[in-house]
Amino acid sequence: MRVCVIGTGYVGLVTGACLAHIGHDVICVDNNAEKVKLLQAGKSPIFEPGLEGILHSAIEQGKIKFTSDLASGVKHGEILFIAVGTPPLPTGESDTRFVEAVARGIGSHLDGEYKVIVNKSTVPIGSGDWVRMLVFDGVMQAQKSLVTAGGGTNRTLEKMPAFDVVSNPEFLREGAAVYDTFNPDRIVLGSHSPQAIALMQNLYAPIIRRQVAENRLLPQVPVLVTDISSAETIKYAANAFLATKISFINEVANICDRVGADVTQVAKGIGLDSRIGSKFLQAGIGWGGSCFPKDVLALVHTADDYGYEAHLLKATVKVNHRQRLIALEKLQQVLKILKGKTIGLLGLTFKPDTDDLRDAPALDAIEHLNRLGAKVKAYDPIISQSDIRHTLSGVQVEDDAERLAVDCDALVLVTDWQEFQQLDYAKLAQSMHNRVMIDGRNFLDPKQLQQAGFYYVGIGR
Ligand code: UDX
Repeated sequence: MRVCVIGTGYVGLVTGACLAHIGHDVICVDNNAEKVKLLQAGKSPIFEPGLEGILHSAIEQGKIKFTSDLASGVKHGEILFIAVGTPPLPTGESDTRFVEAVARGIGSHLDGEYKVIVNKSTVPIGSGDWVRMLVFDGVMQAQKSLVTAGGGTNRTLEKMPAFDVVSNPEFLREGAAVYDTFNPDRIVLGSHSPQAIALMQNLYAPIIRRQVAENRLLPQVPVLVTDISSAETIKYAANAFLATKISFINEVANICDRVGADVTQVAKGIGLDSRIGSKFLQAGIGWGGSCFPKDVLALVHTADDYGYEAHLLKATVKVNHRQRLIALEKLQQVLKILKGKTIGLLGLTFKPDTDDLRDAPALDAIEHLNRLGAKVKAYDPIISQSDIRHTLSGVQVEDDAERLAVDCDALVLVTDWQEFQQLDYAKLAQSMHNRVMIDGRNFLDPKQLQQAGFYYVGIGR
C-alpha cells in the first residue's frame, strides 16, 4: 500500500520504517530539511535498537523515501499518518499546533482520491472530529486561493475530496520501539468508517498475522475496532494506569523502608496474582520520559475541562514528584551535609536503551544536588558532555564509570543500564572518597556491593 507518514520523530520514523519493512511504499515528510537529509543518507537521528538496520534495507529496496514536501507525500499516500509532536504546555495541556498545521496542510493538498487520515500522534480526546474539521478547512482554503488566483477553474475540485479519520494510538516503548511495532499486544483502530478500518487492517495484516513477530506461536494480534473517542482515551488510560502502577509500588516501597520489609519481595508476591501481574512493579526513583508525565497530566486536564477532578491521577503525579527526591533524602541520611560533597550519577537517561533525557529523574537530582551545594558528576553509556552542552548545566559528564568514581563521596544509580550490573565495583570503590551506593532502581545485588566495600542503600529494601 502507499503510505505517507508526516513527522519523523520517534513514533513517525519507527512507524514509517516498520511499514516499509513489511513491504509498503512509504514516504516520510518532515519540515526539518537537515533531518530529511540525514534520513536520506540512512542515518537515524534517534538511537533505537534495530532501527537503522531496517531503515538501510528499506532505503536500498526503494521502499522508503524522505522529503520536506508535504504536497508530494499527500499525493502519494492512500493512508496518511499524522505523527507530529504534541509537547506539553506549561499548563499540562498538549500543544496541538503541529497537528493543526499538518491537518490543514493535508486538506490543502487533497486531490479527490479517497484517503485515510490516521492520528498516530497522542492527541487530546475529541481530536478526531477536530482533525476532520481542519482538513475540510484546508480544502476550502485551497479552493478559495485557486479561485482568487483566477484562471484556476480547471484545477478546482469537481467534488469534495473523500476521506476518513482514524485514531490509531501508539503503544511502543522507547528502546524497544521496533520490537513493539512488530510484536504489539493489540492494535486499536477508532473510526466509524468500515472502508477506513478495512484499509487499516490490510495495512497491518503481516503484523496482525505475526509474520514479522519473534514469537510466531502466539495467536493473531487482537485488533480492537472502536469509536474515535474511545480509541483516544485508551492511549491516555493505558499510560495513566501504568504510571499509577509504578507510583503505587513506590508508595509501598516507602512503607517497606519504614517497617523493614523488602519491596522487591513484596512486588514478587503481589505480581504472582494474575489479576495484578508482575510488570511495572519495579520500585525506584520514579517514572519519566516523553509519555507518562505528559499523558497523565493531559488526562487530569481533560477531566478538569469536563467538570471532574481526577483525584487518583493527581496522587499518581504527586507520589512521583516526591519519589524523585527519595535518593537524595537517603544520601542526606548517610552523608548528612551534602555541601562540598561530590556525587556521581550512574545514568542520565529516563530509562535504559534510549538517549532520551526528557523528564528524566536525573535532571531533578542534578538540580537539587546543585542547590544543596554538591558537585555533580555523571556517566551514561550514551550521553557525553558534548551531547548536553547546550541543554544541561551543573553536571560534569565522564566517559566511563572509573573516571566517574574518582573522588566521589557517593554513587547514585539513576538509570538501570544493563552494563551497570557488570561494573567492577571493588575497583571503583578504591578511588572514591566515601563508599556509598544509593541504588535508585534496586538494580544491583546488595551483597555484592557490600563485599566490594560499599555502604549500600536501595529503595524500600
Ligand atoms: C511508555 C509506555 O510503556 C508506552 O506503551 C507508551 O506508548 C509510551 O510511554 P516509555 O516512555 O518508552 O513507554 O517507557 P517505559 O518503558 O514505559 O518506562 C516509563 C518510565 O517508568 C521510565 O522512567 C521507567 O524507568 C519507569 N519504570 C518502568 C519504573 O520506574 N518501574 C517500572 O516497573 C517500569
